[in-house]
Amino acid sequence: MNISIIGAGYVGLVSGACFAEFGASVTCIDNNKGRIEKLNNGIMPIYEPGLSDLVASNVDSEKLFFTSNLSNSIKDSDLVFIAVGTPARRGDGHADLKYVYAVAEEIANNLKEDAVIVNKSTVPVGTAREVKRVIKKANPKLNFHVASNPEFLREGSAINDFMKPDRVILGLESEHSKNVLSDLYKPLIDIKTPILSTDLESAELIKYASNAFLATKVSFINEISLLCEKTGADVHKVAEGMGLDSRIGSKFLQVGPGYGGSCFPKDTQALVRMAQENEASTRIVEAVIEVNASQKARMISKIRGAIDGSILDKKIGVLGLTFKAETDDMRDAPSLSILPALLDKGANIIAHDPEGIEEAKKLLPNSLQYGESIEEVVKDADAIILMTEWIDYREMDLELIKKMMKGDIFIDLRNIFNKKEMKSLGYKYYCIGR
Ligand code: NAD
Ligand code: UGA
Repeated sequence: MNISIIGAGYVGLVSGACFAEFGASVTCIDNNKGRIEKLNNGIMPIYEPGLSDLVASNVDSEKLFFTSNLSNSIKDSDLVFIAVGTPARRGDGHADLKYVYAVAEEIANNLKEDAVIVNKSTVPVGTAREVKRVIKKANPKLNFHVASNPEFLREGSAINDFMKPDRVILGLESEHSKNVLSDLYKPLIDIKTPILSTDLESAELIKYASNAFLATKVSFINEISLLCEKTGADVHKVAEGMGLDSRIGSKFLQVGPGYGGSCFPKDTQALVRMAQENEASTRIVEAVIEVNASQKARMISKIRGAIDGSILDKKIGVLGLTFKAETDDMRDAPSLSILPALLDKGANIIAHDPEGIEEAKKLLPNSLQYGESIEEVVKDADAIILMTEWIDYREMDLELIKKMMKGDIFIDLRNIFNKKEMKSLGYKYYCIGR
């Protein structure tokens, strides 16, 4: 089976490498020529654990190719996946579909008969039909099929999520697409992965509803954490106690500085806009977005309260910048709103991140300094803020770090350390909801 994947980002590249691993012949196409050049030289344009090896082995076995030449590649493709970005549209928060429709225009006159065009990007309900309309208009005589196959992988565990998903959703409108996609996903069918076939519209909405529901769990526990602080309850125990109820489940109840990343923030917003457009209400999702904004604001007050008095010229060491561990993705990371607010108050901040610094430099104020090691960041610091739960931070020698600091304030926005232990090491330890 010949597959083209348009967009070689977090989703396109991981999907491409995994489909090649399934046995298909895959070409990843990206109009970012620098990205394709890197890939053709064996350099990964993103950090994703395990991706480099998986790409290399499939390139070696001639199942995975990279190109910027769209027309050449797709003319022999049975399946063409669209995996380009759908960011929030500037100004109104709608999903910006210009990249998706640009792809539809670009492929229309190069597709082969009976090609299946599959949308893997997260797109509002109706987009697959609009893609169909665009292609039909440009190439009225062609027989082709559209399908929706939303992706549920998480950054940081993308390959495992792709290879062992909880489910595969297929939005279909023809038997032919069903057959071709079932052939492609056979390795997952063989390991008894639930495959749910739906209409196009339901598949598109399943993706938004799933992300919004997960974001709801996170905002829910973040809001409960404030009540814990006010009443003396421990949010970890509350989450554990709730999670033991199998109807609730323990996942996505980890308190933090607010959800970030390339999807929850934009997808919750896009869902609200989609509902408004359709005169339906989404009051819960609106509240989820609001709670997330207040959680980030609350973290700023927490930090300012901990570093009591003026933060002017205090040296603050920041550990972690990315929106979660095991990724270099800085899109909508909580650090992007928390750190500028502290820099505005005159704080002297030096930050470390194992993978995110290159991206962070493009997005954070120039007054932020960067350290190459944990030691450089904590040395002589008045306070440390742990922003992202990287394993390097979980494993650091807290006794040594305390000695290296000038002050004793440790603000843990991921609750990864033990409160009693931190106190016994001499820290003034601040965390969330405990
Ligand atoms: P990304 O920004 O990492 O990658 C998108 C790629 O598409 C870029 O490399 C860009 O150069 C390329 N591109 C844009 N227009 C193109 C065109 N006309 N021709 C060729 N290439 C083009 O995006 P991503 O994070 O992979 O997300 C892609 C989609 O998948 C989004 O809709 C997102 O919501 C969804 N999604 C993302 C994740 C995730 O974890 N990142 C998970 C599930 C779903
Ligand atoms: C999320 C979903 O989990 C994926 O299923 C989905 O495919 C993807 O969005 C997408 O559509 O792009 P991702 O953004 O990679 O994946 O990361 P998550 O692990 O879901 O975390 C999102 C944010 O929520 C992070 O900022 C994380 O720190 C935060 N979070 C998550 C919490 O604060 N607490 C939790 O318990 C879980």
